Amino acid sequence: MAETAVAEIKALSGREMNELCEATDSAIEAGGGFGWLTPPSHHVLESYYNGVLLVPGRSLFVGRLDGVIAGSAQLFRPTRNNEAQAAVCILTSSFVSPWARGHGLARMLTEAVEETAREEGFGMINLDVRETQDVAIALYENLGYIHWGTHPLYARLPDGSWVPGRFYYKILIGETPGPTASGDAPA
Ligand SMILES: CC(C)(COP(=O)(O)OP(=O)(O)OC[C@H]1O[C@@H](n2cnc3c(N)ncnc32)[C@H](O)[C@@H]1OP(=O)(O)O)[C@@H](O)C(=O)NCCC(=O)NCCS
Repeated sequence: MAETAVAEIKALSGREMNELCEATDSAIEAGGGFGWLTPPSHHVLESYYNGVLLVPGRSLFVGRLDGVIAGSAQLFRPTRNNEAQAAVCILTSSFVSPWARGHGLARMLTEAVEETAREEGFGMINLDVRETQDVAIALYENLGYIHWGTHPLYARLPDGSWVPGRFYYKILIGETPGPTASGDAPA
């Protein structure tokens, strides 16, 4: 049976960077590359991941299958000026390379991000996903994410067509909050 592992990573060795770029590249080719529609050069991907490691408030998690990096996810924390959303973080840029799918890595990555967020005291996590990503939608809904809205013009594809996107939240600490300041219960 394949060996799976997930960890937050603060620095990437040359080999790890190469594996992560390869994994990203193949996920983009397969149509699920967190924004990228066509794979950029490895040089651009390397700059991107070096940036992710440097930016305050971002954490990079990687998933390994048999020791090789095959996917990742990121945790975004609010900026310090955003006091009103200090308890709210974002799970983003989650993907698993096609060759490594179906081994539970996406679930493990999601749970690892949630666990870190919870440990840091974040009460709420948000994410969004293209409506065409059926597997991701099923994964998040099975993990208890609440679909609160759909943006009809979420992303534009190379052929010029628009696809909707779903927006989710999950309470990480405590119960679903009571009425909002407007007096309405959350959806
Ligand atoms: C969505 C994605 C991350 C899933 O990765 P994965 O490692 O194969 O997922 P897992 O093995 O952890 O499986 C997650 C769940 O989906 C189910 N699943 C996996 N592959 C499936 C498939 N082809 N069809 C239906 N269900 C599937 C699993 O049974 C599992 O269900 P469970 O959590 O109830 O046990 C991966 O397909 C991907 O990168 N897709 C493109 C990018 C994307 O959609 N990213 C997420 C939003 S940004």
